Parts: sequence; structure tokens; C-alpha cells
Amino acid sequence: MTADRSEREAFDLVVDRVGTTLEQTGAAFPYVADPETGEWQVTDDGNWCGGHWIGLLWLAYDHTGDERFAEAAREHTDVLADAMVREAMFCGMNFHYAGFRAADVTDDREHRDLGLEGADASVAFYHQRARQIPLGTLLIEGPSSEFRGPDSDEGPSGDVLGAVDAIYTSLPVLWRAYRETDDPVYRDTAVSHADRHLDWYIREDGRTWHHAEFDPDTGELVRQYNELAYSDDTCWARGQGWCIAGLARAYRETEAPRYLEALERTVDYYRSNVPDDLVPYWDFEHPDAPDVPRDTSAAVLTAYGLTGLPDDGETADLAAFGERILESLITGYLTPRGDSYDRPDGMLLEGCFNGPSGYADRNELIWSDYYLAYALSRRLAA
Ligand code: GLY
Repeated sequence: MTADRSEREAFDLVVDRVGTTLEQTGAAFPYVADPETGEWQVTDDGNWCGGHWIGLLWLAYDHTGDERFAEAAREHTDVLADAMVREAMFCGMNFHYAGFRAADVTDDREHRDLGLEGADASVAFYHQRARQIPLGTLLIEGPSSEFRGPDSDEGPSGDVLGAVDAIYTSLPVLWRAYRETDDPVYRDTAVSHADRHLDWYIREDGRTWHHAEFDPDTGELVRQYNELAYSDDTCWARGQGWCIAGLARAYRETEAPRYLEALERTVDYYRSNVPDDLVPYWDFEHPDAPDVPRDTSAAVLTAYGLTGLPDDGETADLAAFGERILESLITGYLTPRGDSYDRPDGMLLEGCFNGPSGYADRNELIWSDYYLAYALSRRLAA
């Protein structure tokens, strides 16, 4: 189904928001924004999600033709390409957005090459024995600026640790590289990585685990546990969203029934544990609900993944569910024009970055803006 009027208006709002964000953040990268004022907390290099901002800049350029968006996108891409650690699960995603997605607008060879560099880095970092792309080295900007490198004292090193979000951060860049080159290494890495997620990260009842630690010599599973969930017996909402988006992508690319079965199971869990407006608490089963923050980033990832599926045949029901989530986000969580508060239009509110620590737990989040904008633009183009 194509976009309706409220989706067109919402798309204009999120493009306007790219403009107000650029005015405030300039050469820095927006990260999380204050819900009352819209003021962004920034990073110098994009941290784990700089590609989302660059993708938004290209989308705004494509929609408006305003050169300041293209200039900013090019400048930010230079910074990201220098700073991004290649041995990290986020490299593929960031270079997909700053590279391949940019090439869709510019047709520039250098952008396509950056996308391929992200795919090559993902293949090179793929752990042959554990059969997945590990979390890798990175310093996540947050309450404790958590370091996940070889000398990590924050738990297991990122080299022996996988994460549920890696299914989505890795698959799109690999499949796009396969389509660009016909080199089966990209497709085979994507399939193997997705299959590992079926058996290590998705539970029988449709919940997901946040992390799986493995033995680097044998590749065997050491333990599964949750870090950003309330407990090991509950479920991190955004992790579920990343997983749903990843499974939807795996099914779209392969039409393999095992991905559809896992997708239906994870979506059934989402449906059964979400409040009526389809936006989950930051943990689906937080014992203090309803007195805990929601997480619109979990909802928008789910909507983005599901609305990318065909809206007929076997996936019609899933795609329709994604549309309902999108509608709820637009009507209930996006700041409208003429808001009585003194804040920008087009902010997607109530994102929860880190529930356990309470850091940025009722904020606008740059990656959520990206998935909302792209979900809407895809529907406008249909
Ligand atoms: N760092 C990925 C996430 O928090 O979703």
C-alpha cells in the first residue's frame, strides 16, 4: 500500500527536522536530543551511529535539492571514514548508509566503494568458528563510555562477544555488496551470520538474547545474557526490533522458510507484550510497567523492517502490522507543526537509549529519526 496523507506530512516534518538539526550541530554528529528543547548532545565522530546522520542528510538533499545537505554529508563522511573502527559490527552498517545509500542519490563511485569497504570489513571480521560477525572494538558513548576492545574491563572483549543487533547491522551491507559484485562471499557470510542468530539469539518463545559470548578457539557458545534488558528473564525491546528488522531482511533476500518462521515468532512475542499503541516499554516485561519509559526506537525498527516486506501473500499480515506501528508513531510520538511547546517540529520522542542506567531514556535518538525517515520515504516511493 502506498503512503497516505499523514505519512506525507510526517515525511515533510522529518525532513524539516534534518534542517533544524544541522543548524544546531554543524560539523559534529547528533546523537540524542533533549525532549523539551530539541537540543542535541553530539559526538565528534559519529560513535556507533554516524552513518544514520549522513543517511538523513542525503535523504534531505534528495528531497529538497538544498546543497547545504550534500556538503554536510560529504564532510561528515570524511570524518566517519577516518574514525570508524573496521573491526566492529557497526562498520558495515555505517558504511552502508554513508556509502551505498549515498550512491543511490549521487551515483558517485567513491560512495559505492565506501559501501564495499564496509562489506569487506564485515567479511574480514567474520569469525569462522563462531560463524558470526562479533561486536568488536568500540567505545560506546554513554553513561560510562563503555569500551569493548581487547583490554576491556567492562565484561568480555568485543572480539569474543556477539550481539542481537548485529543481525541488522551486518546483513544489508553484505547483500547489497553481493548484488553489486556477484561475489558469493558476501551472500554466504550474510546467510551464515543470519543462521547463527537463529540458534544463538532467538529463544523458543520468541524473545531474544542481547549477547552471546563464545570461545574463540572452538567457536562454541559460552553463555547467553542480557545487558540492556531489565534481566535475563525479560527482553530488551530495541534488541527485538533489530532482530525483527534483520529477519525481515533475511527473508526478503532469500525467501527461506526458516527466516519467516523466526520472524513470525519474534513478532508474535512483540504483539503479545506491547501496550495498545504498539510502542513497547524499553523492556517488554519490565515489572514496573506502566511506570517506565517506552522505546520508540524499538517500535520504529520493527515498523521499518516489516513495512519492507511484500504486503501480499505470506507476509501481508506482518507488513500490515508494521504499518500500524508506523501510524502510531506518527500520530502519538512525532512533534507536530505548531506544537504548543517551544521545540522543533518533527522530533520522534520517547526513545530510550539505555534503560538500565536511565541514560537518554526519554529522548529523540538519531538512529530512530533515520529509520522513520526511510520507512516513510520508501512508502512515498511505492
Ligand atoms: N548500540 C546499539 C543499540 O544500543 O541499539
